[in-house]
Amino acid sequence: MDGVTDGSYREVLTAMFGGRSGISVCVSEFVRVLRQPVTEAVFLRHCPELARGGSTRAGVPVFVQLLGSDPAWMAEAAARAVALGAPGIDLNFGCPAKTVNNSDGGATLLKQPCRVEQVTHAVRAAVPASIPVTVKVRVGWDDAAPMVDIAMAAEQGGATWLTIHGRTRTQLYKPPVDWHAIGRAREAVSMPVVANGDLFSVSALQRCAEVSGCSAFMIGRGAMGRPELFVQARTGSDRESLSRADMQQLLLRYVAQLLADGAGQHATLGRLKQWLRMGGLLRADMAQWFDDIKRLQTLAEAEATLTQAPQVAKLSSRKSSLPSISTKAPPSPRA
Ligand SMILES: Cc1cc2nc3c(=O)[nH]c(=O)nc-3n(C[C@H](O)[C@H](O)[C@H](O)COP(=O)(O)O)c2cc1C
Repeated sequence: MDGVTDGSYREVLTAMFGGRSGISVCVSEFVRVLRQPVTEAVFLRHCPELARGGSTRAGVPVFVQLLGSDPAWMAEAAARAVALGAPGIDLNFGCPAKTVNNSDGGATLLKQPCRVEQVTHAVRAAVPASIPVTVKVRVGWDDAAPMVDIAMAAEQGGATWLTIHGRTRTQLYKPPVDWHAIGRAREAVSMPVVANGDLFSVSALQRCAEVSGCSAFMIGRGAMGRPELFVQARTGSDRESLSRADMQQLLLRYVAQLLADGAGQHATLGRLKQWLRMGGLLRADMAQWFDDIKRLQTLAEAEATLTQAPQVAKLSSRKSSLPSISTKAPPSPRA
């Protein structure tokens, strides 16, 4: 997710629960592909894991996400990313941002499913068969009628799997999410379909599985307020819910990780605010912290606000506040 799921975020999330976070695949923030080569520096900025074999330290593969519409340049970028060590390529045909759509990128291509096929086909042909090429779409531009055509286009292009956000482009993030349309696409193709959209709880995951028939899920915003959801998706239980103290510790770990990864104080403060703002949609304590720090100008003040809370002080004698659990069951959520 652009502006949110940076390398530091992926690092702390996949390290949770002793490295058994329940996350099977991460996707980088998008790399914009225009009619020119993408430099190595750009790839490494978006996906620092490339310098370590393409995985987080917990061993979760990070696919490089490409956003563009020119088949030849997308193929060139994909080949370059793979040469740098990308374990997979994810193609973004779902971005609803006006600036992106007006320059012929993201969800614009959903208006002509054959273009989804062309780009996917070119990228598929440019990278070794062992490298997954995955496609992310919405259910359509302004209605879900073309959903099946879009899914078939992705399959024809050679997609390894298809992730569907159950909203149209014109809906942006407004309700309702349409898991039924995801189900129609799943029935029409033989590649795996990953359901996405409003998966904020175990019960939502279960309902989505029933409605769409999917057994693999992508969790975006839910991970910010409920990073334990990936584990819960596998156990089917919400027993591992993070306490307020666990969440505080995770946020402080994120700040430390950002700084260790070279982010400046100002950028780190901005990212922390962003996580709290989005997490606050699901957790009252995060909403309160966001309120407490949103006008602060320095990272030191924000950290002090978080660390002063009594729950963190109590934690210092514990090895790790995050419960250690094991995960076994299949569904494959991706961040
Ligand atoms: C701030 C933000 C940034 C996003 N950036 C991307 C992106 O770069 N690529 C992408 O495929 N989807 C992106 N999305 C969409 C999410 O991946 C996801 O499809 C959407 O939020 C619905 O899923 P959720 O309810 O689990 O969040 C973004 C969403 C948000 C809120």
